[in-house]
Amino acid sequence: MSRIIIGVTVAISLCLAWSCAKKEGDREQSSASDKVVAQELADGGQALYESKCSMCHGSDGTAGIAGAANLQLTPLDSVALERVIADGRNAMPAFKTSLSETEIRDLAGYIMTLKK
Ligand code: HEC
Repeated sequence: MSRIIIGVTVAISLCLAWSCAKKEGDREQSSASDKVVAQELADGGQALYESKCSMCHGSDGTAGIAGAANLQLTPLDSVALERVIADGRNAMPAFKTSLSETEIRDLAGYIMTLKK
């Protein structure tokens, strides 16, 4: 009788361990695909950044030409970055009339990769 109980207990714990391991795997997979998405956004943003932004901010974000903010040190998150790029601020021009929402999102993604 007690052997049966031990057997059942072992079977249940193996089952639990397996389902946990499976969930862990799923999670790794989704964070890997998040990284791919972030990388694709960054690649799209880089070309735009070089053509529209680097003349003031510099290729690495630190040039500070015309008082441009150092983008490596920006405290802004990606949503706030999108807002500044779209609406502009002081000497920073607004880009919402010349760039699409997707392009602005790509740029914010690229700036996130410049941040130190
Ligand atoms: C004409 C020069 C100029 C160009 C071109 C320019 N910027 Fe700026 N940018 C500035 C200036 C100046 C500031 C500081 C604004 C202020 O005084 O608040 C700034 C600030 C910013 C900030 C805010 C950073 C912070 O920490 O507050 C972001 C983000 C930014 N720029 C992104 C961009 C992007 C992306 C582009 C290209 C689409 C771009 N800028 C093009 C001049 C420029």
